[in-house]
Amino acid sequence: MNPEVMKDSFGRRVEYLRVSVTDKCNLRCTYCMPLEGMDWLRRDELLSYEEIESILRVMAPMGLRKVRITGGEPLVRRDLPELVRRIAEVPGIEDLSLSTNGVLLEGFAEELAEAGIQRVNISLDSLQPERVDRIARRPDSFRKIMAGFAAAEAAGFTPIKVNVVLMAGVNDDEVEAFAALTRERPWHVRFIEVMPTSANLEISGGKFFSCRDALRRLRAIDTLEPVEGPPGNGPATYYRFPDAPGTVGVITPMSHNYCERCNRMRLTADGQLRPCLFGSLQTNLRDPLRRGEDLRPHIEHTLRVKPERHHLVQGSDVGSGGLVALSQTGG
Ligand code: 5AD
Ligand code: SF4
Repeated sequence: MNPEVMKDSFGRRVEYLRVSVTDKCNLRCTYCMPLEGMDWLRRDELLSYEEIESILRVMAPMGLRKVRITGGEPLVRRDLPELVRRIAEVPGIEDLSLSTNGVLLEGFAEELAEAGIQRVNISLDSLQPERVDRIARRPDSFRKIMAGFAAAEAAGFTPIKVNVVLMAGVNDDEVEAFAALTRERPWHVRFIEVMPTSANLEISGGKFFSCRDALRRLRAIDTLEPVEGPPGNGPATYYRFPDAPGTVGVITPMSHNYCERCNRMRLTADGQLRPCLFGSLQTNLRDPLRRGEDLRPHIEHTLRVKPERHHLVQGSDVGSGGLVALSQTGG
């Protein structure tokens, strides 16, 4: 029914769109956002749910198959299930997932599942309550996130992916404990190397911890067999301990094999279509949409200019495209 595929100029098939619904967040994770001084988008700058739906209805016949809702923290935007219901009805979109920090998930999980969310990724950077609260810089985060995990399981989201941003001297001593979780539960724990933005240089430079080192430590415990990994084919590479129900994944944006398999673009909360998370390339879809123009040529243009790779440099904001926080573009 959807014979078209979106290909970029390097032959990569682009079928996955991350849709940011807000730049705001109820946490202030040290590696992500500065504590103060963020310049928030105004309401009239944000795409409405109807506008997001319109964009997806143009992209789906072009070959879009998968949508992930992100932020900021998507659940801080009012009535997110309404957007989910709208997206779930767009013909051609087969896979609809959500990335969340989990804090508000307890109250929303069931409604989101009914609305059409199939899977969730939940960020959790430590298994120690005080540490989580310290990294997130908001009290009581750990408890709420755990309630979110329980609600996600009860709502039947599967698979559950856990995102762990590694930081030397902050949580790198928990690599083994996180991996041990995959022996008990069918969770997919993904270690993520921190990406530099202008607000996190101290962490992305001084506290960088590589996934290679994480894997080396895990291999000292037991065999890690490379595996296919859960559906969603993102940038992660997955491994499994013998007979474990879950997997350990690594996301290594700072090594360049990552970009070769890129299958995605991003839509920011204010309607900019970004062919790459980093760098300054973006196409304004919001204004042409509000003028009633055909969006297709704008989308085709964005595909054509999708760069071969990002130009991030560890410990520098060269290449980040002036990003202050990943929450600005949707992770
Ligand atoms: N580097 C790496 N990961 C980041 N995230 C947010 N900011 C950064 C960064 N600078 C992660 C979040 C979430 C995912 C969407 O991106 O923790 O798991
Ligand atoms: Fe919020 Fe996610 Fe950024 Fe943490 S990483 S501040 S939860 S957007």
